[in-house]
Amino acid sequence: MKIGIGCDHAAFSMKEEIRAYLTAKGHEVTDYGTYSEARCDYPVYGEKVALAVKNGEVERGVLICGTGVGISLAANKVQGIRAAVCSEPYTAQMAVRHNHAQIIAFGARVIGIDMAKMITDAFLEASCEGGRHAKRVELIREIEARFRTE
Ligand code: RB5
Repeated sequence: MKIGIGCDHAAFSMKEEIRAYLTAKGHEVTDYGTYSEARCDYPVYGEKVALAVKNGEVERGVLICGTGVGISLAANKVQGIRAAVCSEPYTAQMAVRHNHAQIIAFGARVIGIDMAKMITDAFLEASCEGGRHAKRVELIREIEARFRTE
């Protein structure tokens, strides 16, 4: 699968490990940065990965910051993007099955690397269920459209 990954300085080392993990599993991973532990701003990387998903450069995205919150908030500002913050695999799986999330986010200061790998696996192995869930996702889209200003 084509996967985009992004992080801020707080999660640089975890991003490197997850990138290597996914690459070793045969995924085609595009790294949207950050590329060092130098302090940076998480919205930049949330937007980059969200745009890559929106434009079809990648199928799914993985975002990591200190908590997963800031970077997911930024990604969710891109129209049509659903980024879910998770700290365990069940929510990661359900975020795809029921909420059709295209991006998973987690916090390098919240969980360890083994949990991060389990969350990533659960997210990538899950498929959207459609049906009644698609209708609810459509309702989210309608809210987004009502408040669109551009
Ligand atoms: C950086 O210190 C930290 O604020 C950031 O990684 C993230 O946790 C924000 O949500």
